[in-house]
Amino acid sequence: MPIFHQETGNFFHLQNQQLSYVIGVEREKYLTHRYFGSRLPSYHGSNHLQFIDRGFATNPFPEERGLSLNALPLETSTQGNGDHRIANYQIRLANGTNVTDFSYASHKIYQGKQPLAGLPALKGGKTEVTTLEIQLVDDISQLQMTLVYNLYEKFPVLTRNVLFENNGNQAVFLENAGSVQLDFPRNDFELITLNGSHTNEANLHRQALHPGIQKIESSRGTSSPQHQPFIALADACTTEFSGEVFGFHLVYSGNFAAQVEVEQYGSSRLQMGIQPETFEWQLNPQTSFQTPEVVINYSQKGFNGMSQTFHQVYQEYLVPQTFAKAERPILLNTWEANYFDLAEEELIQQAKIASQLGIELFVLDDGWFGQRNDDTTSLGDWQVNEDKLPHGITGLADEVHKLGLKFGLWFEPEMISKNSDLFAAHPDWALQVPDYPLTEGRQQLVLDLSRSEVQDFVIAALSQHLATGAIDYVKWDMNRHLTEVGNLVLPPQQQKEISHRYVLGLYRILDSLIQQFPQVLFENCSSGGGRFDPGMMAYMPQTWTSDNSDAICRTSIQYGYSYLYPPIMMGAHVSDVPNHQVGRITPLETRGWIAMSGNFGYELDISKQTPTDLEKIQEQIAFYKKHRKLLQFGEFYRLLAPTAQQFATAWLFKNQKEALLIYSNGLAQPAVPANYLKLHYLDAEAMYRNDATGEVASGAEFNQAGILIPRLKEDFAVMALHFTKE
Ligand code: DGJ
Repeated sequence: MPIFHQETGNFFHLQNQQLSYVIGVEREKYLTHRYFGSRLPSYHGSNHLQFIDRGFATNPFPEERGLSLNALPLETSTQGNGDHRIANYQIRLANGTNVTDFSYASHKIYQGKQPLAGLPALKGGKTEVTTLEIQLVDDISQLQMTLVYNLYEKFPVLTRNVLFENNGNQAVFLENAGSVQLDFPRNDFELITLNGSHTNEANLHRQALHPGIQKIESSRGTSSPQHQPFIALADACTTEFSGEVFGFHLVYSGNFAAQVEVEQYGSSRLQMGIQPETFEWQLNPQTSFQTPEVVINYSQKGFNGMSQTFHQVYQEYLVPQTFAKAERPILLNTWEANYFDLAEEELIQQAKIASQLGIELFVLDDGWFGQRNDDTTSLGDWQVNEDKLPHGITGLADEVHKLGLKFGLWFEPEMISKNSDLFAAHPDWALQVPDYPLTEGRQQLVLDLSRSEVQDFVIAALSQHLATGAIDYVKWDMNRHLTEVGNLVLPPQQQKEISHRYVLGLYRILDSLIQQFPQVLFENCSSGGGRFDPGMMAYMPQTWTSDNSDAICRTSIQYGYSYLYPPIMMGAHVSDVPNHQVGRITPLETRGWIAMSGNFGYELDISKQTPTDLEKIQEQIAFYKKHRKLLQFGEFYRLLAPTAQQFATAWLFKNQKEALLIYSNGLAQPAVPANYLKLHYLDAEAMYRNDATGEVASGAEFNQAGILIPRLKEDFAVMALHFTKE
């Protein structure tokens, strides 16, 4: 059993082949954090807790002046009785006070993992996961808090969530219900986060911890492009290739906070969960509240090691099973080619060319419904515009299918345009608060997904289309953040539940659609990566990574996201030049290689390409198909990080048989040094043939001595080298 309770010392030891995580029970009451790191064969408590009588310390046992809650490394904070660090929970009792006192009560260890009520989570069967549940009870308020730890057998990964239960007879209010807290006995870490904005997502930031609180968060209603719900703590000497990293990723798509506090005596407390400021939950007697789970990833093999684990775990345990191993089609999307200007004949013509080139999926983006000739109208009116598509969606889909392509359709189901039949019929279905005006974004409002009748409407609107069987793929978009988060239904004391209820409503909708239409491939989108998080990935196995389709910007966006997500999850399209977002002109080859480094597709007017470009596109498609297994299911490693000066990047795809190096030169440089690139991850003992030169060498040689990257006297050139294992 990889989790065991050790009577001597009263420890819980969570142990697999790669990690150990140890929890102690102090004075039979407090859960202490004793160790997290590489596997220990056994644990005996050599790193004793320190008990010092310090100034300002308060003591739960008056005669034990060395025992202060403020100095104990705890698995969960305490409230109002001496732990002054950032809190993982806060409860307001019926009498208005904020003091609780939880004590260890019992525990359970079992094989497998329970699903989380209403929330997405990593899956895992009885031979793959072991669970530890520790119950803490506050006898005075009769509240129970269960800390749940799931240890994965094959990976250096555990997940954690918290369940709050009210066994008393009065309602209480959860003002904060965090998912994880971890006290490290040191603060010499660097904090890693991924930050950005629309069209500039997932920029990597790395900074040393300093005294006080460092925090990222979202109050926008979604996980947001501003901050990925992820933080990691790494040693200062950790690189892509070596060193220790502790990564934390929240499986949640709404408001979140992730923070680290370096406290007075040099320890650091990490905490993560739903953002407290925009949250409250009325916990009625005999009800419970389930927090989202956090994926905790331990790597001793640097950031590439951490990423490999996230990639494999998400493919195996997170995405819908139908798509975990399913090859993804090469698509053509109409957005940057047509925008709102859609005409059936022209679309069929584009699909015809696409099919000749070997494209496999034709996606009709925005503009096909209601009076949607621009972005000011019709969201919610999911009926086809027959002026544009006289034979309806099924008519167009039939034509596309006849050409041997699959058919995909865009929706923005969570939204309502003020100018729509839906808003005229149900003005109260938009999120709103009494008396104040509704703030528009892209001239649209947000549907109140916290209400079950609104959820039912969305399910019915999409089901009606999907039930025709004509749609193989859905692009699910979401293009604004939430304001006036309230409704006219819930009582005043429950209005702060709505942000979380919205996310629960969204998950209910997605769950229902995926259950009903398991064969439909859903692509997640929120103006690109605005809601790219593991919560969404549990329903939709791929995301449109960014509205920025420029190949050079994409190298750094995809580089950043690859910390967490494998290339198969990152939609990446070859688009026209000058690029529509930044105006840059890059070679078609470059755009091809960068798009092939993600979930490959095209988003340009295929009917306007030159014969030479069409030929190149055909070659790209043929190459991708030939190496699709490698590119979609191979291991992915970052070799070279884009720098602010040159933007050069390199990454490697690898499987049992072959490897592909993609080197992006960025801006050409004068006076270049000899540029040797070590491949690091080929199988050391095996021999590989460089298919461009015919040269054969051992994996070890390519890894350690490297290859000479020739001088590329061209801005934005990309070089790809394929290696075959002999
Ligand atoms: C934002 C998406 O990211 C784009 O790809 C496109 O689908 C537009 N919305 C359509 O309005």
